Amino acid sequence: MKIVYSKDYDTMARKAANLVGAQILMKPNCVLGLATGSSPIGLYKELIRRYEAGELDFSACHSVNLDEYVGLAKQDPHSYAYFMNDNLFSHINIPKENTNIPDGTNLDAEDECARYEKVMADLGGIDLQVLGIGHNGHVGFNEPEDCFQKATHCVDLKESTIAANTRFFDKKEDVPRKAYTMGIMSIMNARKIVLLASGESKADIIYRMATGPITPQIPASVLQLHQDVTVFCDEPALSVMLEKAPELVNGRPQ
Ligand code: F6R
Repeated sequence: MKIVYSKDYDTMARKAANLVGAQILMKPNCVLGLATGSSPIGLYKELIRRYEAGELDFSACHSVNLDEYVGLAKQDPHSYAYFMNDNLFSHINIPKENTNIPDGTNLDAEDECARYEKVMADLGGIDLQVLGIGHNGHVGFNEPEDCFQKATHCVDLKESTIAANTRFFDKKEDVPRKAYTMGIMSIMNARKIVLLASGESKADIIYRMATGPITPQIPASVLQLHQDVTVFCDEPALSVMLEKAPELVNGRPQ
């Protein structure tokens, strides 16, 4: 796992865009695994800027998103499908039919999870997966549990996750209680992983994810076993790392 320092959020986004952009240049028909949330918004803005500047072409790319709230249609402004259109897809030339996200309106969980597994298998897996990380160490919506869940599944969101996501809704009661999420196996099978985290509230979990025991109680800790993970953080998100394990942080000006 490579941990890369950036002074601030925008620099972090640009550095991550270098890696994602390189993936698209090297393999124009790549499969991108994508995340929602605050962490990748700057990355998506930078990818849009590079597309508008004629530096990137998404016309042959496919995408698979990590997760979606159960019960929300893609036109719902709180759905992750809406987020992706708003923050990325409608600003670049990826064909809409090449974009995939679990269908929150399919309430038959078994059917929807099997469908999504087939989508990913038919695409031949993920070339580069973008991740954020929850304060409790979740990736996608793989919440802390007694064992790692391998495949796409339906989860009951933890209270802490519901509380964290309340900022996107009018009130806490409006946050859906269930979500479909890609499993740990699809994430770990991605050929390359880019994880983004910013802000001091992520500092402790970044340290535990990167240096602590590998445990399903901190789902992101499993990334220590992956061959090609780059973690892009701003300085506040690295504050604990810089104090306790500065030798693991790359790219910090001396
Ligand atoms: C979003 C997702 C979540 C977020 C995580 C961090 O698709 O899968 O795991 O990446 O909750 O969210 P932010 O970036 O908003 O702090």
